Amino acid sequence: MSIPRTIEWVDGKVRILNQLKLPHKVEYIETDDYRRVARAIKDMEIRGAPAIGIAAAMALALATREIRTVHLEEAIKILEEAASVLSSTRPTAVNLFWAIERVKKRAMRATTVDELVEAVVDEALKIWKEDEEVNRKMGEIGEKLLEDGDTVITICNAGSLATGYYGTATAPIYTAVEKGKSIEVIVMETRPYLQGARLTAFELSRAGIPVKIVTDNSIGILTMKEKVDIAFVGADRITRDGYLVNKIGTYLLALVCKERGIPFYPVAPTSTLDIKRGIEDIVIEKRPGKEVIYIYGHRIAPEGVDAIYYAFDITPPNLITGIITERGILYPPIHKAIKKLVSNRD
Ligand code: MRU
Repeated sequence: MSIPRTIEWVDGKVRILNQLKLPHKVEYIETDDYRRVARAIKDMEIRGAPAIGIAAAMALALATREIRTVHLEEAIKILEEAASVLSSTRPTAVNLFWAIERVKKRAMRATTVDELVEAVVDEALKIWKEDEEVNRKMGEIGEKLLEDGDTVITICNAGSLATGYYGTATAPIYTAVEKGKSIEVIVMETRPYLQGARLTAFELSRAGIPVKIVTDNSIGILTMKEKVDIAFVGADRITRDGYLVNKIGTYLLALVCKERGIPFYPVAPTSTLDIKRGIEDIVIEKRPGKEVIYIYGHRIAPEGVDAIYYAFDITPPNLITGIITERGILYPPIHKAIKKLVSNRD
């Protein structure tokens, strides 16, 4: 199976597959400047919660190249400045803040500048490598929910392109196919960025997995007329009370799944659990209306009319069948399962 990679650390530089160019061009951004990585996150050249966490961690590793001092406090200041630039790129995916905090925490244990630089680079690369490992674990766990011949519905791209490798929502699909099951995928196109139509369709077709695209507003009739066995979606954040924050349209998919009796599973590493916050504390990213109004540079709405564009929505826990994590499946009551998992983790 040929599964694309979205981010790599190559000879001390960050190499990002530019997702704004997909599927028409496979083009890479190679940089040793953390500000360029921050721009790539903000402009969605790289996107997907785990991938932007990895990108931010690697960007902090790049920031250590700017340290020209032997004084630890000055070196920490440079790191803090980079962390603050990276934190202001996108507000919703918790993995971004989780990765930045994890690298900073490790850096704070250093007693010399050399130690700090080594620790930051090492931690960033660890976050990257671990991501693939947890995705493969979620693949093993989630695969058991799939029967040979099943059709999976998904939204956006929670695939390899959104992670270090292998994806979250795609992981059970890849594992099932690796084990010889025949699986088909239906992906919602995901207006306005079309992560489903452009990215998931690109990634799955490259891997040789049959995939069909539906418009976001098709899911009602689709689930009445076509075979749809299970929904796997990603997560940008799961709050302590079990609310799922994910790509705009996920809530509507979950409602339809509930109505039609289709199991609905977010697939998310435990780094996506935000145990500190409830739903009232979450910032839902609002992006410029022009991203809705223009398609590939062409205005599709009349002059003078603006749009409202929330990039994510919130799915309540009563619509969730279970959350697949690398530590097992969290079943309802979800908030209790989260609490138990976290108390075992900490
Ligand atoms: O705006 P995006 O493309 O970054 O949104 C991505 C999603 O909503 C994904 O489902 C989520 O980040 C999980 S990716 C494994």
